[in-house]
Amino acid sequence: MADNGSKAGGDRLEGKVAIVTGAARGLGASIAELYAGEGAKVLLTDVRDDEGEAVAAAIREAGGTAAYQHLDVTSPDEWTAAVERCERELGPCNVLVNNAFIYSQPAIADVSWEEWSRNIDVNLNGPFHGFRAVLPTMRERRDGTFVTISSSNGNEMSLPAQVSYQAAKAGLTAVTRHIAVAYAAEGIRANSIHPGPIRTPGLVEQDFMEMAEFIATGFPIQRLAEPEEVAWAAVYLASDESSYTTATELVIDGGSVSTINVPGKKG
Ligand SMILES: NC(=O)c1ccc[n+]([C@@H]2O[C@H](COP(=O)([O-])OP(=O)(O)OC[C@H]3O[C@@H](n4cnc5c(N)ncnc54)[C@H](O)[C@@H]3O)[C@@H](O)[C@H]2O)c1
Repeated sequence: MADNGSKAGGDRLEGKVAIVTGAARGLGASIAELYAGEGAKVLLTDVRDDEGEAVAAAIREAGGTAAYQHLDVTSPDEWTAAVERCERELGPCNVLVNNAFIYSQPAIADVSWEEWSRNIDVNLNGPFHGFRAVLPTMRERRDGTFVTISSSNGNEMSLPAQVSYQAAKAGLTAVTRHIAVAYAAEGIRANSIHPGPIRTPGLVEQDFMEMAEFIATGFPIQRLAEPEEVAWAAVYLASDESSYTTATELVIDGGSVSTINVPGKKG
């Protein structure tokens, strides 16, 4: 599929209609590509319209079914428009991947109220609008799966920085678990993926890549994740292969939260 060496090309997601947020690049683009490669119809959404259109076009060129829609996740109206377009052109959405995010570096003593609020707005309130936009149809059809892209940062571990991000991601995991518990009897599943550092444009923009590469040498799997190594988990969680899996948090971090990490070690 596409030009990224992906091995997708099966039918694991036949019958799935997915909306993926933040799909113009990084992990979201990788998820969209693998989903389409496995037979899902995919509505890619983002605020980076040129990049998003290009990813969707590449998917179509490779034989997949995909469209791109501008969607700022903080806008309930844009969510409504995206869900309506999805239903009109691809079919009722039965998979929602809340992946879009923005980064925020400061610790609690330093973060401004504006930065805190903006981060919570995109990273937690955005998915809130998304859950609510698709839940009515999913409940009516008794068919829906939420794949939440959370983070090990804020859930399994903390850093002495990035407080807004950690708060948003911990909240997002909690809401996902809540949905799993509240709507399981209605045929709806919800799970979170908790990645460690992934080699994406988002990580590069944080000016953190060099440090992340160094830190990752201390992980049991002594390197950063590539986007596809996390995206395959999103395929599993969207597929019927995971039909008994709900309210789960899947940590994909090269083993780093399971041990003491000593950067620079060899072997
Ligand atoms: N890269 C990592 O190291 C890492 C680690 C743990 C978790 N994650 C999670 O993975 C997900 C993807 O991260 P990434 O590294 O691929 O990020 P990225 O910055 O490369 O891509 C994020 C995308 O979200 C979009 N976006 C930002 N604000 C938006 C908004 N208001 N509405 C819609 N789209 C918006 C951006 O335009 C961008 O295309 C995030 O949820 C992130 O928290 C990433």
